[in-house]
Amino acid sequence: MDATRTDLLETATRIAVQAGELARTRRIEGVSVAASKSTAVDIVTHADREVEALIRGLLADARPDDGFFGEESDAEPGTSGLTWVVDPIDGTVNYLYGIPQYAVSIAVVEGDPDPLTWSALAGAVVNPESGERFTATAGGGALLDGRQIRVSADVAPDRALVGTGFGYRADVRLEQARVLVPLLGEVRDIRRLGAASLDLCAVACGRLDAYFERGLQPWDHAAGALIAREAGARVTGWDGAPPSADFTLAADAPLAEFLESFLTMAASTGHDGT
Ligand code: IPD
Repeated sequence: MDATRTDLLETATRIAVQAGELARTRRIEGVSVAASKSTAVDIVTHADREVEALIRGLLADARPDDGFFGEESDAEPGTSGLTWVVDPIDGTVNYLYGIPQYAVSIAVVEGDPDPLTWSALAGAVVNPESGERFTATAGGGALLDGRQIRVSADVAPDRALVGTGFGYRADVRLEQARVLVPLLGEVRDIRRLGAASLDLCAVACGRLDAYFERGLQPWDHAAGALIAREAGARVTGWDGAPPSADFTLAADAPLAEFLESFLTMAASTGHDGT
């Protein structure tokens, strides 16, 4: 019999919790950088690799016919039509510095492992430091430690606490900062918490009213986007496209509309203010 979404979520959560325990143990022992990736500040630690290998092995045992798509190792297609999308440690820089805001993020998606076309079935985001487990199944709602969570509704833009993040390339983050400056005058405040999966979960449970970022990788948002959506958020890219590297925005619908139009305008305004 095919696994139900609940079965898939149980697998995702069990493995994310086990992986989180390993990440936390390694954090206590001391973290070291294994290599840098896209830029000198885009790092991978030895723990990222070890935790991904653990997750990959546990998934291969539990779901041998499914594909795998993780941040730190090669993708492998499966034969079942399902793929596990994994960030072993989202918030790697927080992890390196001992800031307790990082997560193991595991989602299972149907279709090609492409966020523009896949359909996420279940997802778990676990913060090993707080012990919090954010979970969702498609159509089944979103939970924090087993209790239902909802996005905050009807928040006026000038009362909205908005999360965002920055890319690893200096030219990209300078452009992100340029667009952020006018937004600071429109909202309650901005937060840059450092782990996209947890930012999306923060929207899901009302700790943030909205979150947006450009340049996310599929494993950064696969589980968190499902959790935020199941908690009632609108989660999109530009013009209603699915979230992707191009743009990811999550908020209650009216606030999402405001932010999308404001950010579109801010991005199209020239560097000389025209
Ligand atoms: C990063 C974090 C960060 C976000 C970056 C991501 P990583 O993921 O989620 O908050 O701003 O865009 O790349 O590198 O820590 O897995």
